[in-house]
Amino acid sequence: AGNKKESRGALVVLEGLDRSGKSSQCSRLVSFLEEQGISAELWRFPDRTTNVGQMISSYLTNTSQLDDRTIHLLFSANRWEKRSLMEAKLKTGKTLIVDRYSYSGVAFSSAKGLDIEWCKAPEIGLLAPDVVVYLDISPEKAAERGGYGGERYEKLEFQKKVADFYKVLHDVSWKVVDACQPMEDVEKQLQEIVLDCVTECWKGKLLSTLWS
Ligand code: TMP
Ligand code: MG
Repeated sequence: AGNKKESRGALVVLEGLDRSGKSSQCSRLVSFLEEQGISAELWRFPDRTTNVGQMISSYLTNTSQLDDRTIHLLFSANRWEKRSLMEAKLKTGKTLIVDRYSYSGVAFSSAKGLDIEWCKAPEIGLLAPDVVVYLDISPEKAAERGGYGGERYEKLEFQKKVADFYKVLHDVSWKVVDACQPMEDVEKQLQEIVLDCVTECWKGKLLSTLWS
């Protein structure tokens, strides 16, 4: 087994529809890992704190209008501007719990009718997650949860299309967790998946890049 002090952290991504519970599960997960003595940090995309992120945020709140390809590339740029920091953190041993990543980028833009391969292209070369956990909920159930904040994509018909594109993106790095279970059960399953993943990274699993 690897020595955790010399090993890298894991890149863990949570994906799912709006209202699938990603954000609360991400913060619970970080607290859990810290309690286990595993150094972890919560990240999210879009990262609205940067200049690019502010452009994205005003688009999402309908304060600005942007062409579909333009906003797609801004979401991607928002990941690229964090790439080197992401790699540096992982190499110092931090595990990153990331709320949305390239899969959101591709699923949401493809749902608008953009070609999926075109959508994937700007993501090539970003760090590949060690695991992607998909919090699975039907678009109808997610909408029933209420509290759609009124942002641009938070509409049932659109979320149905996004769900279809998420299905196309599933690969071997994905774990699907039923998001309709009691919150504690979702939490337990996530903890197991992530602990396994962190262990694999400590044992020497190499970082790779999208899409592989
Ligand atoms: P948030 O609610 O997690 O802050 O995400 C805001 C919205 O942005 C959400 O509806 C998903 C969408 N999104 C994209 O369209 N492309 C992306 O690359 C990302 C990260 C999110
Ligand atoms: Mg949202």
